[in-house]
Amino acid sequence: MATLKTKYLGLELKSPLIVGACSLTDEPEKLKALEDAGAGAIVFKTLFEEQIQLEELELNSELAEFSELHAEMTKIFPTMKHAGPTEHLLKLKKAKQAVSIPVIASLNAIYMDTWVEYAKQIEQTGVDALEINFYTTPKDFELEGKDIIATHLETLNKVIRAIKIPIAVKISPFYTNPLHVVSRMDKTGVEGFVMFNRMFQPDINIETEHLEQTIMLSSSHDARLSVRFTGLLYGNIAADICSASGILTGEDAIKTMLAGANAFQVVSALYQKDIKYIGTILNDISNWMDKKGYNTIDDFKGKLAKVNLKDPFAYRRAQYVEILMHSHDVLKKTKM
Ligand SMILES: Cc1cc2nc3c(=O)[nH]c(=O)nc-3n(C[C@H](O)[C@H](O)[C@H](O)COP(=O)(O)O)c2cc1C
Repeated sequence: MATLKTKYLGLELKSPLIVGACSLTDEPEKLKALEDAGAGAIVFKTLFEEQIQLEELELNSELAEFSELHAEMTKIFPTMKHAGPTEHLLKLKKAKQAVSIPVIASLNAIYMDTWVEYAKQIEQTGVDALEINFYTTPKDFELEGKDIIATHLETLNKVIRAIKIPIAVKISPFYTNPLHVVSRMDKTGVEGFVMFNRMFQPDINIETEHLEQTIMLSSSHDARLSVRFTGLLYGNIAADICSASGILTGEDAIKTMLAGANAFQVVSALYQKDIKYIGTILNDISNWMDKKGYNTIDDFKGKLAKVNLKDPFAYRRAQYVEILMHSHDVLKKTKM
């Protein structure tokens, strides 16, 4: 029978399925259930500095209100302030103790100093690795793409120098040329790329005429973006590739590994089904490997990456033009 063991960020994983950062990964009982269902590792939900700042602001305004009512309050508790990341760090420590599979922390900070400081504090919790979450949506009309990339590279370099645990970067697909950005980040010595982060978009409710923030779960079509860039990058970078976004079935997962991924992350599938569905995904991969005669993931990893294909147009724009020119036949074939 096929073995599903794989290596990611230098860590030995019993399976390539990593539960991505989400609300399922921040409770010890759920973590145990994820491990028992077969997850190879989990990414604990992100420590967002923005969230800490927000909570701090709320606390300060509450304290200000209160001290106006009771002037002596500020004398009794002169140094009362928000605990910062302490609660998150404690939860990380507990998570690490709750399971024997690797626990990967995730961080999204704002300032260069806090990126480094929080990364150091996270390392102290004993987690196995750190995922740097470069989640950012453009707000500033003046800020150029090259400046964003320069800041990301500087952040990465500083965090890498500050801590010893392995580091992965979870990147957005919206860089003008993700290949260029990944290859520059690869030179920093980062150990893995998680491709890609899913950016949440606000919706508009046309009845209330208000903006709404809803969580939209992925569909399998979303995995194609990750498969494409995994296939283009495999064999061209030193770091591992962990595919993410839209991996809902064993079939989706197999595609990412054929393109060159060492591991893949799953979130939406677990919200749509349940934690035990991890077993179904892993069984489907295992059965496919047995059917194809593959004993290990390395036997087929990257088989369909660009570097291993003779067709010079694989993964290229020419294919897109070809599809558009023959769209009628293609749609008939896919029964749309
Ligand atoms: C409820 C929920 C919470 C999430 N929280 C985080 C988070 O804290 N940090 C992060 O990097 N991604 C977070 N994500 C994004 C997921 O980690 C993942 O990148 C995204 O859902 C795409 O993967 P999927 O297609 O398997 O859902 C969250 C997603 C969901 C649905």
